[in-house]
Amino acid sequence: MSPSALLQATGISKRFGGLQAVHQVDLSVMPGEVVGLIGPNGAGKTTLFNMLAGSMPPSAGRLWFAAQDCTSASAHRMAQLGMARTFQITSVFPGLSVWDNVLAATYRHQHTDWLAAVCRTRAYRSEQARMAERAAHALQQAGLLHRRHDLGSELPYGEQRKLEIAIALATAPQLLLLDEPAAGMNPEEAGKLVQLIQQLRSQGMAVLLVEHHMRVVMGACDRVVVLSSGEKIAEGTPAEVVRDPEVVRVYLGRETVHA
Ligand SMILES: Nc1ncnc2c1ncn2[C@@H]1O[C@H](COP(=O)(O)OP(=O)(O)O)[C@@H](O)[C@H]1O
Ligand SMILES: [Mg+2]
Repeated sequence: MSPSALLQATGISKRFGGLQAVHQVDLSVMPGEVVGLIGPNGAGKTTLFNMLAGSMPPSAGRLWFAAQDCTSASAHRMAQLGMARTFQITSVFPGLSVWDNVLAATYRHQHTDWLAAVCRTRAYRSEQARMAERAAHALQQAGLLHRRHDLGSELPYGEQRKLEIAIALATAPQLLLLDEPAAGMNPEEAGKLVQLIQQLRSQGMAVLLVEHHMRVVMGACDRVVVLSSGEKIAEGTPAEVVRDPEVVRVYLGRETVHA
């Protein structure tokens, strides 16, 4: 693998019966880089995401993350190594408050055991305080701190997407995978999402973003990878990719592009 890449997939493929959903895709994300993944519906974006996140084993190819061979690693292992993801379908617990949804995510960092919890040792109490701080920071980054007492189910759809991002941020990841985070957001919310991604990058976090909303892709991404029918058809800066004739033919020709 390239020695400096945080995430690197080489020749990664997924077959569902007779359907080649992803075919020999090479993809890398450097530390602190924001990479966009675009392509028409059915291009294989979510399937590729699921393989990168350890939610689905590849049929072929290799995957490296944080200097480890993660080709057959579980989603749990990827999370331990510092990867967090959001889902295209919302994963918020509707019956929990916004605060509890995010606090639950910080438990990845819990080190004290149940006995310490029962005895409420000093180590346990200071750890609880750190987790609460991390949850508050994640909510603040996502612009949702003022909603912390509301139930997950009470948030409008656009804010549920932000809550998913806050849940992912609460695990303090090195790489954040976002699957269509701007879905259901109005233009103002989408603009704030771009600002949030830029802010995360300035803190050294890497982001891999599947997104249809071209304004978000153009505003947030350093590099864009284009998939079509499971294959990578183009890669470059947002400005290069939108000028690529093949990309225009299979994807952008059908979309309204306001760069
Ligand atoms: N679990 C699955 N079983 C069978 N086919 C699937 C499965 N998941 C996705 N597919 C198929 O793989 C292709 C790529 O799907 P997907 O990765 O969801 O694309 P995208 O996210 O780019 O819209 C589609 O033809 C889809 O129907
Ligand atoms: Mg998808």
